[in-house]
Amino acid sequence: MSEEISFGSDNHYGVHPDVMAAIVRANSGAAHAYGEDAYTERAVEKMRAVFGSQADIFFVFNGTAANVLSIQTLARPHQAVLCTTCAHINTDECGAPEAMTGCKLISFPHQDGKWNSQSLEQAERVILDNLAMAPHRTEPKIISLTQTTEFGTVYSIDEIRTICAFARQHKLYVHMDGARIANAAAALGVSLKEMTEGVDVVSFGGTKNGLMCAEAVVFLRPGLGQAFPYLRKQAMQLPSKMRFLSAQFDALFTDDLWLRNAQHANQMARLLEKALRPISGIKITRPVEANAVFAILPADVIPQLQKHTFFYEWDSSLHEVRLMASFHTTQTEIEGFAKELRRLVQPTS
Ligand SMILES: Cc1ncc(COP(=O)(O)O)c(C=O)c1O
Repeated sequence: MSEEISFGSDNHYGVHPDVMAAIVRANSGAAHAYGEDAYTERAVEKMRAVFGSQADIFFVFNGTAANVLSIQTLARPHQAVLCTTCAHINTDECGAPEAMTGCKLISFPHQDGKWNSQSLEQAERVILDNLAMAPHRTEPKIISLTQTTEFGTVYSIDEIRTICAFARQHKLYVHMDGARIANAAAALGVSLKEMTEGVDVVSFGGTKNGLMCAEAVVFLRPGLGQAFPYLRKQAMQLPSKMRFLSAQFDALFTDDLWLRNAQHANQMARLLEKALRPISGIKITRPVEANAVFAILPADVIPQLQKHTFFYEWDSSLHEVRLMASFHTTQTEIEGFAKELRRLVQPTS
């Protein structure tokens, strides 16, 4: 089979070799089912060493389930989740958060994917109005932020603290969609514990960072995750052979593989940005802070370039594309992509 190159998403590549080796090692002998096994115990212990011993940690198959089950555990169907308009839970989960939890999502404008002071002010007005109109309107219960954002930007620690303080003031839980939280930690150079201080629950991404099919839900305060095991079973996300998910996390948290993979992906995105900036007719449209590069390309170039390296046109009205670097991306791939782009936009040079 030919080797396809893709900047389509950080989940377009396969499994990191250390993770695959861990899955193979887990494939020997018998183990108790449904997470009652030594692999799960060890993976959870390793993650607790990073998030704190109070953390309750559960594994699921995918990010949508991690988000849905985080929300379902903390909110009831008459309650609401506040998020940005571009939040993955709002745009890219086929309505699963609303369908599965019964909660209403209320979305607010964003700046490059982030909540900002204006959107928080708008959220405050909605919270106060909704409470004043009880029981006719939903009760705001959770505020959700995505780290790194859907536009590849990274909330600073101060920005996270501001959202957490807002949440405390309005008695909301804080949910962090951390499908790419490792890239954010690598970008900020802070520990996961420091980055999630004040957050109640994290959907912790694994699949985009070298795992086969595993994400974690991390409850950061004791007791918050009490209902999770029941809800996970009802949601059909409790595998009997849990050891194969746990082994992946065990590998990810061995010698900081999670961080090394994310650092590599971020570095590749910086290289890509550097290679694209000087090319005439190309405009980088979002700050490159983690492993995503957003750029406007000449419309006619996009389909031709996609034949060389796959990527998505993010906003077809602007011809803005999203280029994702992953743990697997190489400098050679970036150089080849930039060369092809130069050839297409400057055919005579
Ligand atoms: C920010 C964010 N959250 C959640 C998910 C959901 O992951 P999955 O596709 O595994 O359900 C994605 C996947 O693209 C994502 O980008």
